[in-house]
Amino acid sequence: MEPRTLVYRALSGTPSSTLLLVISLLAACRPAAESDSGAAPLPAAVETLARERGRAIAGQAFALLSTNLAQALAQGGITNALPYCSEKAYPLTELVAATNQVRLRRLTHKPRNPTNAPAAGELAVLRGFQLALGRGKTPAPVVRATPSNTVVFYSPIVITNPLCLQCHGVVGRDILPATAALLQKLYPQDQATGFSLGDLRGAWRVEFERPARETATR
Ligand code: HEC
Repeated sequence: MEPRTLVYRALSGTPSSTLLLVISLLAACRPAAESDSGAAPLPAAVETLARERGRAIAGQAFALLSTNLAQALAQGGITNALPYCSEKAYPLTELVAATNQVRLRRLTHKPRNPTNAPAAGELAVLRGFQLALGRGKTPAPVVRATPSNTVVFYSPIVITNPLCLQCHGVVGRDILPATAALLQKLYPQDQATGFSLGDLRGAWRVEFERPARETATR
């Protein structure tokens, strides 16, 4: 079965009756305040659980992509490595998504591939990360509840590895002319150059079923 099918199956599965009970109890006692995502804010214990889960999954995905990319660069240079941040990145992230039964993608304020552009409301999350970086802080991941009983976890992707600059740095300084030409050919609308170490490159977006509160109180 295709990983994508698995993910959708996992997401469309009916939540357990316990989960439904918890949700209806919460809905009954929470104030009707709405967050900017249109859903009621998460109780702190649920948010902590969501944060832990999101962090672990984004970490797995990033480690898998970075390792594959580094190996490919070492073995065959840029042309060999390019797919590991592009078309091979999708099966790799799908694998992590299917294993964890979540939806997983990358998004960015400066897309190389237009499909990685942020949705409405997501640019603000990226700006928040940039603001923190600008103040010399490590941006904290953001967790949001959705009206469809899922949570979305965003964690910043900051360029900390010089090897990223070979394809996302400054043309002429970090990016070789041949790489620049290849990128231009593959991505005529490329905005994903001009980065330096320490810059925000984008974010991981992990979406999963809202955790039940009772599992949070251990
Ligand atoms: C060998 C060239 C290459 C290297 C090295 C590279 N990337 Fe990429 N990167 C790409 C390409 C090509 C894409 C477009 C992917 C696609 O088609 O979705 C991309 C896309 C991305 C995206 C998705 C957003 C977008 O702009 O489409 C992120 C995030 C990203 N890269 C981060 C990184 C990070 C972090 C590193 C270092 C660990 C890195 N990249 C190293 C070539 C590279």
